[in-house]
Amino acid sequence: MNLLETRRSIRKYTEQKLTDEQIEKLLRAAMSAPSGRNVRPWHFVVLSDRKVLDGIPVFAPNTAPLKGAPAAVVVCGDLNKDVGLWVQDCSCATQNLLLAAHSMGLGGVWLNIYPNEEKMAKMREHLGMPEHIAPFCVVAVGYPAEERPQIDRYNPELVHYDRW
Ligand SMILES: Cc1cc2nc3c(=O)[nH]c(=O)nc-3n(C[C@H](O)[C@H](O)[C@H](O)COP(=O)(O)O)c2cc1C
Repeated sequence: MNLLETRRSIRKYTEQKLTDEQIEKLLRAAMSAPSGRNVRPWHFVVLSDRKVLDGIPVFAPNTAPLKGAPAAVVVCGDLNKDVGLWVQDCSCATQNLLLAAHSMGLGGVWLNIYPNEEKMAKMREHLGMPEHIAPFCVVAVGYPAEERPQIDRYNPELVHYDRW
């Protein structure tokens, strides 16, 4: 519970690079996510090249945190494997990745690409992805250079028992 309740979106990072072991741990967490019918229709593109990272906010301004991030993971759906649940599956993988980062003392943020068709097309082009791969989001990740407080967001008004 402590891990879940202290996770915040981190958008500022130090320059310290991540190790291959750290990246693999993050991907392991992502691939451990639940998946509808256990299809696991995901792919992950690991980014650490400065030019590749900096090129994304040019066509997707909401991904500005990438400009200061030492690494990022693009979470993608494989439409050839999809049974109609790839968005939920990729969301689960993304949340696992964010929580794993937090557990490792790293900070990350979910940066939307899907469902914006234009950003998806530009991301495909930017990374040389085939048409059947849908770029879902980018998770920027690094050592935190900002501290964000825990917030209690529990709201009993949103909970309903046995009927609305
Ligand atoms: C589906 C989704 C899309 C998001 N897209 C962006 C984004 O494009 N850019 C950004 O800076 N943050 C993005 N975020 C992070 C949210 O702004 C953040 O989770 C929210 O403000 C709550 O703050 P917290 O994560 O610190 O608890 C996104 C989060 C989710 C779940």
